[in-house]
Amino acid sequence: MNIQSCSLRDEVITAAALLRAGKTVAFPTETVYGLGADAGNSTAVRRVFEIKGRPLGHPLIIHIAGAGDIETWAKDVPDMAFRLAERFWPGPLTLVLRRKAWVPDLVTGAQDGVALRVPLHPVALALLRAFGGGVAAPSANRFGGVSPTEARHVFEELGGKVDLILDGGSCAIGIESTILSLIETMPTILRPGGLPVTALTEAIGMQPALALSSGQSIRCPGMLPRHYAPRTMMEAEPSEAIWDRCCELEAAGERVGVLALTDPLAQSAIQRQTTVVVVMPPDPPGYARRLYTALRRLDSEGLDRLLVERPPMNFEWLAVNDRLRRATQVWRE
Ligand code: TXA
Ligand code: MG
Repeated sequence: MNIQSCSLRDEVITAAALLRAGKTVAFPTETVYGLGADAGNSTAVRRVFEIKGRPLGHPLIIHIAGAGDIETWAKDVPDMAFRLAERFWPGPLTLVLRRKAWVPDLVTGAQDGVALRVPLHPVALALLRAFGGGVAAPSANRFGGVSPTEARHVFEELGGKVDLILDGGSCAIGIESTILSLIETMPTILRPGGLPVTALTEAIGMQPALALSSGQSIRCPGMLPRHYAPRTMMEAEPSEAIWDRCCELEAAGERVGVLALTDPLAQSAIQRQTTVVVVMPPDPPGYARRLYTALRRLDSEGLDRLLVERPPMNFEWLAVNDRLRRATQVWRE
């Protein structure tokens, strides 16, 4: 395995050849880095599960070069899928559609649906075009952990196991795509993500249903109650309680990391020698972009506990709150 430093064109050609040979390639997207394999090659896809430590049966998103490839993988595609694809692809929207029978069970988790997305990143798009097929790719992290938003995160976590890592810089969106299922009775958001719900509501002409997270199929790892999680014990607190909690833990001798939202909090916290504070941007897209890097950083400090200042509970913050809920063991209202 190596991180390629030659020209983008050469890298992409090498990566496409590796995919054709049944190898794995980690690549950048606008959301997070993906760990890709030829979606039509079950042996190659199996390797992705092994590398991630992901239990078999959890389906993978197939990355395609454009909406023209939808019907290679999906049948009975509703008009709405084409309309949404035209509006939001390439971009952070994954559509779950009815699978064609030939699509490997390993990719779909043997479910009725197949998840498709066209990523908005020049390296990913160049790779998909050069490869010419679909690339099944989960986020390029160990199962249950924090998704990578830089090539070095992939290298640190999976370096020895992946055949090639393409470096396309930091991911612009920073959290995973929004997953919309069009095979339920109503359009249903299975996972909030990089595409805001409001944008979907406007495009569909109605608010999509929201799948209840914890009751969902166990085959959707991104929907397990605990996911996207650092190793350090983590608690979410409302703004008015977080500083008291921090003091309480410090008094008990704990070293604490704080993911703060408001500056005044950070000012007072920074004076504490045993507390590490990361101040997050106040807007949801800015927060999302920095979230996983911040969690990784705090997780690497060897702290006893992480505290998160809870963002507001509204639609704008839906995806960030979803990831924070899954990353924390304790969520105080
Ligand atoms: O932004 C993203 O979506 C990133 C980048 C790499 O594209 N990918 C990603 O993949 O987050 P992963 O595997 O970490 O999460 C994919 C989610 C899982 O929760 C999975 O269960 C769900 O998509 N999924 C995949 N195929 C599905 C299907 N056929 N039906 C329902 N859910 C599906
Ligand atoms: Mg993932």
